[in-house]
Amino acid sequence: MTESHDRAEETGGRVPLPPAHRRAHSRARDLERYADLFAARTRVMRSSAMRDLMAITSRPEVISLAGGLPDTSTFPAASFAAQMTKIAQESAAEALQYGPTEGFEETKDCIREVMAAEGMSPDPEDIIVTTGGQQAIDLITKTLIDPGDPVICEAPTYPGAVPVFCSYEADVHQVTTDDDGMRIDELEELLDRLAAEGRRPKFIYSVPSFQNPAGVTLSGERRGRLVEIAREREVLVVEDNPYGLLRYEGEPEAPLYKLEGGNYVIYVGTFSKILSPGIRLGWLCAPPPVMEKVVLGKQAADLCTSTLTQYFVREYFAEGRWRRYVTDVTAIYRERRDAMLEALESYFPRQATWTRPQGGLFVWATLPDYIDTGDLLAKALRENVAFVPGVAAFTDGRGTSSMRLNFSGVGEEEIREGIRRIGEVIGEQVALFETLTQESSVVSRQSSEARDEGGQVLPLRLPRER
Ligand SMILES: Cc1ncc(COP(=O)(O)O)c(C=O)c1O
Repeated sequence: MTESHDRAEETGGRVPLPPAHRRAHSRARDLERYADLFAARTRVMRSSAMRDLMAITSRPEVISLAGGLPDTSTFPAASFAAQMTKIAQESAAEALQYGPTEGFEETKDCIREVMAAEGMSPDPEDIIVTTGGQQAIDLITKTLIDPGDPVICEAPTYPGAVPVFCSYEADVHQVTTDDDGMRIDELEELLDRLAAEGRRPKFIYSVPSFQNPAGVTLSGERRGRLVEIAREREVLVVEDNPYGLLRYEGEPEAPLYKLEGGNYVIYVGTFSKILSPGIRLGWLCAPPPVMEKVVLGKQAADLCTSTLTQYFVREYFAEGRWRRYVTDVTAIYRERRDAMLEALESYFPRQATWTRPQGGLFVWATLPDYIDTGDLLAKALRENVAFVPGVAAFTDGRGTSSMRLNFSGVGEEEIREGIRRIGEVIGEQVALFETLTQESSVVSRQSSEARDEGGQVLPLRLPRER
């Protein structure tokens, strides 16, 4: 009989937990015990920065500008209750059952309505309903990537895509973005370089509209050229478009899927930002040969997407108010974006720069390069405010002085207060740096070195060694 069994009997069947210090010790021992069992790919798996932060940011005293959370409190609870009641009364057995791997035809009708709002008209056969857009990215990568295969994405890219690409051991290449989105000239140079090595990327992943994390939008001209490149070079483009309908100003740009027609563009969409992320409903549209493999991947992953939430979406769309809700929520987020941009002007130091998104949920701010936003986050958390450090959006360690700021998850007052607190911790870093560098220039001007008591030259310590 085992020790824990004996103790369980003593405590009437419950196995008592060891004290905390022993638990920590046994976790380390457990890790050692299982180490040989882990697949090689687990060594390159990365944690999602946002998921890590969620545990901290869910504390009520923390103002979180970190998550990409839509404000679900804006969704009419009465409407939610009415739809769920209707489902329970009229189709409980079906809604509680498994469904087809590809998703219900009725869900695809709702998806086609959403895509039609941006001028797209996919064939229902080309659509698969997924457990969020995140699963769509995972299934595409699983279907197309062998270890070492090149994938191209934006720099910075969607932080949630980084762990996916890493898990499948892709060779990730990131192309710089500016105010007009991905630099297509740089993309072409990269494609040429890869071609010279006899390599072709399996796909180019892009969030062309109101990008997560940079908030920038790929210009019409660059969209046209990207689609041409896809055709000319026969390269797949994965267009991830959760934010296209969340536009606060300016004219819409045509989705790549519409421009190209769907032979070389795989489209990823989601209900997360226009309805609810909790229902975990997304989709992807792909040409039939790709779709065939994606369906097999989905079967292996989770058999089918939640039937219950597909029923909910069906009822919600039948009500005919989904566009109204998008309009309402867009008005709220526009105000929040403006509040954030104003607060940045007021509270961030003049050395900082940031993007001015026309839609979506994020601003990307860049600080002087002597500030590490990972270190800054630790300081900001002490002030009960959070953001996503820029490194999460890169696979190669870039982005150390940048941060992603979300403006949809909290109200305007909290946005202002959150930015004020972050501005304050940045201000302290800038002041410290300026004091130390001034000292350093005084020392060098006088050609007198700081020495210790034994006459040895002392290094001048700057806030951060690069
Ligand atoms: C660009 C992008 N793609 C995909 C997702 C995943 O969303 P979901 O799985 O909730 O549909 C997100 C979420 O923030 C995102 O910003």
